[in-house]
Amino acid sequence: MMYRKIAITGLLALMAYSNCAISGESRTVKAGKKLYNQNCTFCHQADAIGKVGFAPSLTNEEFLGTASDKFIMGTIRDGRPGTGMPPFAHLGRKQVKSIIAYLRTFSKLPNRSAAINAQPRAYGNARLGKLWFDDICSTCHGVNGDGYAAGGTGTAIGKAGFLNKASDGFIRETIKKGRSNTRMLGFSGPTALANLTDREIDDIIVYLRQLAK
Ligand code: HEC
Ligand code: HEC
Repeated sequence: MMYRKIAITGLLALMAYSNCAISGESRTVKAGKKLYNQNCTFCHQADAIGKVGFAPSLTNEEFLGTASDKFIMGTIRDGRPGTGMPPFAHLGRKQVKSIIAYLRTFSKLPNRSAAINAQPRAYGNARLGKLWFDDICSTCHGVNGDGYAAGGTGTAIGKAGFLNKASDGFIRETIKKGRSNTRMLGFSGPTALANLTDREIDDIIVYLRQLAK
């Protein structure tokens, strides 16, 4: 009997110990989930799956694989002026970080943001980019990239709130690969909605950059 009691106590101690080792991380994630549910669910929905034409998914695998913490952090802090995304500077850095830690638990792909943000700047022809944009992208992202305000299902990619935080690499990667399970399909390769060349994609990025000026 005595032996069994000791064995159980030992097991409980071991469990308490291993719990301790992960609690720093899980406490942050837990806090982030709570903050997310309090501040973000209304628009971005449970598990941040997004709502068509209302708020984008924040747990989409391509989004989490391409967006840096800095991009997500800055977007949450400053919001996106002229869109439905309000600023959350009042939450403070630590709380916003915990929200990001929670969102990152949905990651399925390795985060490639460092390499993506280090890609060369887009170089191209804004006039041609506008033709592509008006033809293909404006249906969802609105004329001038005004986003949901224009009645589309895509975000406001022509506004400074997005453009000032997104690198050319981030925009390029998103256009090429798209975001699975959203209306944003990839535009590169034979299975793409329209098979745009690298040059055409850069033309579009150069056009978008002009819109924010
Ligand atoms: C059929 C609709 C549709 C079309 C066409 C479309 N998009 Fe999108 N795009 C979306 C949606 C929807 C999202 C956001 C995904 C979500 O809701 O979770 C998005 C997201 C993006 C993003 C990321 C924006 C952000 O806020 O992080 C970029 C960049 C983008 N699209 C560029 C383009 C470009 C350039 C074109 C044209 C070549 C294009 N899209 C065509 C629907 C579309
Ligand atoms: C009142 C609605 C609303 C609330 C509340 C809200 N958002 Fe948003 N959020 C939006 C909209 C709308 C957009 C897209 C804006 C645009 O068109 O560019 C967005 C965009 C974003 C983006 C950029 C995603 C991308 O694809 O680039 C992030 C990150 C984000 N929100 C995080 C949050 C977090 C975290 C919270 C809670 C702290 C939050 N949002 C609360 C409406 C909201």
